[in-house]
Amino acid sequence: MELVPMAEILQKADEEGYGVGGFNVNNLESLQAIIQAAEEERSPLILATSEGAINYMGMDHVIGMVKGYLKNTDLPVALHLDHGGSFEAAMKCIRKGYSSVMIDASKYPFEENIAKTREVVQAAHAVGVTVEAELGRLVGNEDDVTVTEKEAAMTNPDEAVEFVERTGVDCLAVAIGTAHGVYKGDPELDFDRLQKINDKVDVPLVLHGASGVPDSDVQKSIEMGIRKINVNTAFQQAFTAKLREVLEENPDMYDPRKYCGPARDAMVERVKDKIRAFGSDGKAW
Ligand code: G3H
Ligand code: ZN
Repeated sequence: MELVPMAEILQKADEEGYGVGGFNVNNLESLQAIIQAAEEERSPLILATSEGAINYMGMDHVIGMVKGYLKNTDLPVALHLDHGGSFEAAMKCIRKGYSSVMIDASKYPFEENIAKTREVVQAAHAVGVTVEAELGRLVGNEDDVTVTEKEAAMTNPDEAVEFVERTGVDCLAVAIGTAHGVYKGDPELDFDRLQKINDKVDVPLVLHGASGVPDSDVQKSIEMGIRKINVNTAFQQAFTAKLREVLEENPDMYDPRKYCGPARDAMVERVKDKIRAFGSDGKAW
């Protein structure tokens, strides 16, 4: 099986009205956990690697592990660069065989974000690779971020239309009140804003920072056009909690397989929960 462009996975999700997880791979065990969960649930799979994760694992190891898996699966799988910070980072992944890249120029002014995204879209589309971009910024969860600052950082629906038209991007990550990492309070999603964006924009929408968002809110956002849901922190927490528990119970344990194995199993269950919550179970073709 070859990697499939992420656009293909999202297009089917869009036609049938469900969401697909963009699940972050950070090491061998997280890749194994995500794969096992997707296989058991028969879900299409988007394997996301940040630049940090690629640096940690080594690009050739990432490619080697994923290509090895592809020999043994019939699931549709996309390999995606998450939050790519530059044209060069995106091109490096494309040259190595990624089927999807995110160019995240959301920290730049609108026109600069368009220019940087357009440049990646032109190069990526020439070789059939999907591009995700971001408009608006996810705030951190610092207590001193004011409501006005949060609103200013959110995606403007009119700008979203212009951004998609002028860049030709395949899917758009929107800022509607989610944040990366651990939430200090309850996340408050701006569903009115999401509805307006979805009414105007005709590409699949992406929700980042979904770990701390209740499944019911994610499901509501799927009804309003979210097709890719990024999860990282929740899986790391599941893995690490189990690892801590095993080591606390077995302070003399030193074989990594003995504590990473149960941690990986715990992560599998968490990934399966998310696959079912997003509705992509049984959707592999
Ligand atoms: O791009 C990755 C995600 O947005 C993950 O966010 O760690 O809060 O789940 P999270
Ligand atoms: Zn993200």
